[in-house]
Amino acid sequence: MNRLRLVIVISGAGSNMQAIAEACRAGQLDAEIVLVVTNRLDAGGLQRAAELGLPTRVVASITGESREQFDQRLCDTLNSVAPDLVVLAGYMRILSAQFVAAFAGRLLNIHPSLLPRHKGLHTHQRALEAGDAEHGATVHLVTAELDGGPPLLQGRLAVRADDTAESLAQRVQRIEHQIYPAALQLIASGRLRTMGHYPELDGQPLVEPLKAEFED
Ligand code: GRF
Repeated sequence: MNRLRLVIVISGAGSNMQAIAEACRAGQLDAEIVLVVTNRLDAGGLQRAAELGLPTRVVASITGESREQFDQRLCDTLNSVAPDLVVLAGYMRILSAQFVAAFAGRLLNIHPSLLPRHKGLHTHQRALEAGDAEHGATVHLVTAELDGGPPLLQGRLAVRADDTAESLAQRVQRIEHQIYPAALQLIASGRLRTMGHYPELDGQPLVEPLKAEFED
């Protein structure tokens, strides 16, 4: 089977991108990163990608252009390398419905909470304020609803009495670096299919997200 062609889209540090790149390199993920795209020239992940020998492209917004115009340029850049999957990894712009539709079933994101809990920002602080006993991260398919697409794989941790938003952020990121490559490998192996109305695992509808084993 051919290796999955991945485009990773980032706005920030790119630690998930690096984890995916390392999993490819270690032979744990049957995929190759054909392009790293960012909307931010100052994204720390650009330097990381260069150090990893990955091709990069910056698609920065132009003053006055609409979300749809920006997303069309992003879409064209992604399509120029014919990706099998578009992997959002810390991409901080809201996507237009047209962009989501263009990559339906091929667009993934990782979110730092146990979706559907805590969609949006400040998830660690909100988990603490809610008194959650468990917290974690979710790999999900992207639909037009923000952080609302079908969850595929989750990694959970038990919140400790002395956890802060910062300590949770660090612990959740360690989970992310394990579950994103794992979810991608489920797709690469053909076990997890995401193109239909519902995701399917081994031919059965995936009604609940898979629970990942990981090192906490
Ligand atoms: C991650 O915590 C992810 O959950 C969120 O943005 C962060 C990206 O971190 N969507 P990095 O750029 O991969 O280091």
